[in-house]
Amino acid sequence: MKITVVGAGAVGASCAEYIAIKDFASEVVLIDIKEGFAEGKAMDLMQTASLNGFDTKITGVTNDYSKTADSDVAVITSGIPRKPGMTREELISTNAGIVKSVSENLIKHSPNVILIVVSNPMDTMTYLAHKATGLSKQRIIGMGGALDSARFKYRLAEALECPASDVDGMVIGGHSDTGMIPLTRLATRNSVPVSKFLSQDKLDYVKEETKVGGATLTKLLGTSAWYAPGAAVSAMVQAIACDTKKMFPCSCLLEGEYGMSDISIGAPAIIGRNGIEKVVEIELDDAEKANMSESAEAVRKMNNVLGEMNLI
Ligand code: LAC
Repeated sequence: MKITVVGAGAVGASCAEYIAIKDFASEVVLIDIKEGFAEGKAMDLMQTASLNGFDTKITGVTNDYSKTADSDVAVITSGIPRKPGMTREELISTNAGIVKSVSENLIKHSPNVILIVVSNPMDTMTYLAHKATGLSKQRIIGMGGALDSARFKYRLAEALECPASDVDGMVIGGHSDTGMIPLTRLATRNSVPVSKFLSQDKLDYVKEETKVGGATLTKLLGTSAWYAPGAAVSAMVQAIACDTKKMFPCSCLLEGEYGMSDISIGAPAIIGRNGIEKVVEIELDDAEKANMSESAEAVRKMNNVLGEMNLI
């Protein structure tokens, strides 16, 4: 299995590192536009191989997409991250052009690739990758919900004073501070609904902290986070590589599911060797349905900007 990671910044490098440590891929190609940067990151990572015990070969290249040829999976992390106080949506003017040309370059050399989009605003960048490449809806996945759900479980575990491994929960909707929908109603601790342990106030707090999870870290770090984004995307790559059929909430191009079409937005999906094997439709209550349509409205507004930029 050959995996390309576009962008050797913090998220891309962290993703490459987790993929290598899990040792399920034969090769990871790290590619960046900054001369020598991906080569340096790849060499540094390869020097951990004997220490961390992996055989995955990591190579770095500067902007030479021929080296990514015949990749099975490609992860797009290119573009700029947000700075404290910025929304993900504010990145569109810089990142959209980059994501479009990166997607086109990838597909030229790897016509059978499955793309995982991380760049922000993620749902709109996923939609743009669809439009730019014409790849089937199975083969373009936006990484937001897997990360947001991990952050949700972190906040739930904190409130429950238990390990995150005791907790299950999902975040659907758009990957934005206002668009995320942490499904507290369905979250459990060892199969017991979390509402048995946490008051409504506590649940509301968990929900709000989850939604601004990325912004909280951006404020603390001065730039956006990388460990959890890298771990989330590597978990998705692993599900494809090992054909696990694990369920991740992620940005999927909907065709009627949840009553929506022609939009990429966070919904639970089965991920396997073919990419999105199936979008899972769960029963939402009225409030969740209303949240989902509000969230979709905001994503569509962002998608319209792509038209204004003449990118689709
Ligand atoms: C975050 C970025 C990856 O939420 O969107 O940290």
